[in-house]
Amino acid sequence: MKLMVVGGGGREHAIIKSLKKNPDITEIFALPGNGGIAADAVCVNIGAKDIDGITAFAKENKIDFAVVAPDDPLVLGCVDALEAIGVPCFGPRANAAIIEGSKVFSKNLMKKYHIPTASYEVFDDIGAALAYAEHCPIPIVVKADGLALGKGVLICETREDVRAALHSMMEDKIFGASGCTVVMEEFLTGPEVSVLAFTDGNVVRPMISSMDHKRAHDHDEGLNTGGMGTVAPNPYYTKEIAELCMETIFLPTIAAMNAEGRTFRGCLYFGLMLTKDGPRVIEYNCRFGDPETQVVLPLLKSDLFTIMKAVHDGTLSDTDVTFSDGAACCVVCASDGYPGKYETGYPLTLPKTAEDEAIYVAGAKIKDGMLVTGGGRVLGAVAVRDTLSDAIAAAYAVADGVQFENKYMRRDIGQRALAAANVAAANKIY
Ligand code: AMP
Ligand code: GLY
Repeated sequence: MKLMVVGGGGREHAIIKSLKKNPDITEIFALPGNGGIAADAVCVNIGAKDIDGITAFAKENKIDFAVVAPDDPLVLGCVDALEAIGVPCFGPRANAAIIEGSKVFSKNLMKKYHIPTASYEVFDDIGAALAYAEHCPIPIVVKADGLALGKGVLICETREDVRAALHSMMEDKIFGASGCTVVMEEFLTGPEVSVLAFTDGNVVRPMISSMDHKRAHDHDEGLNTGGMGTVAPNPYYTKEIAELCMETIFLPTIAAMNAEGRTFRGCLYFGLMLTKDGPRVIEYNCRFGDPETQVVLPLLKSDLFTIMKAVHDGTLSDTDVTFSDGAACCVVCASDGYPGKYETGYPLTLPKTAEDEAIYVAGAKIKDGMLVTGGGRVLGAVAVRDTLSDAIAAAYAVADGVQFENKYMRRDIGQRALAAANVAAANKIY
């Protein structure tokens, strides 16, 4: 069977490595993939947003099944276009991908169907937004409506910050057209949890929970990034909280999308905050998270392709989705300076990894037959072990073995999770 995976980051590398465990899959193409993914799939130089190029390739190469991983092609209707030429896909259609593509849509959906989230106001007129800024509660969170590479969220501590955020999004358009409309929402506090869930529109099968580390530097300082590391499971996400989330968030979201005529099939990502008043949705993503996927899929015991096919066929209720009892850690090795200015093109040397370790390459190219760095996030160094502390130590050992000139990584990935797990154990919380 011939598969095609649209995308070219660490998430796609993790998906491809997981898919390859299925013996029925004979060939995997990555569009565009990257220099590191080239070790595991045939990389084809077609961009993830080139919907016409993707469909033409699928037709010409008689692709049996496609996995569309990133947000942009999903929101642009890549799945719709592939289905129109008869290629079965894993991933939501555009009318469901809007759950990530528009924050106004997702906030209005949650309000209409009583799904717990931060309270909010929507503005498409800067005058009205600035007037609200004079009396809104502070701090407040200002979010661009559309996709903004995960950067369209500004947390404002003062009224001056709010005014500046509104001017930069709505007038200076720092996030392009995405910021013409903004959501201004209540600032919430509490531990954050990422839950990725498979759904075929009928049932929802949450994957093991995880914790992202979004800030660039240790102790959660510095700018927001795409994610500097992850651990799974997330110790804050107890069995009781998982049950509450299923009842108050996951099932109501699937039902809400069905009621709106926008059935979601694929991986729905719930970005949750565990507030003192209960779990709240911070964001939905219409896809696997990155680098969450790099810790979640190595813990998946069931066959990924079988699950993806069941999501497409609507037979997820009969399909096994189980995870191992261990823990996983991913440490992102980035180019120094990321998410700001950074240099690429440095030779990249990868250490040998054991069976329960992996290197998922996010940004690399092959130049003159040599692997060189090619992005802000270069790779994720991943290890699975029985305990979280062992997984963290092993992931750092892999990351320390990676060589390139301007390598930068956080040194505290997993430490907060470890502390939370220790406190919980001492207090016998779970
Ligand atoms: P998002 O891109 O929506 O995930 O937002 C990026 C980050 O901003 C989240 O991971 C949170 O840490 C923070 N954030 C977003 N919305 C809120 C909120 N309402 N209250 C507090 N923090 C938030
Ligand atoms: N790691 C956050 C995301 O994938 O959006």
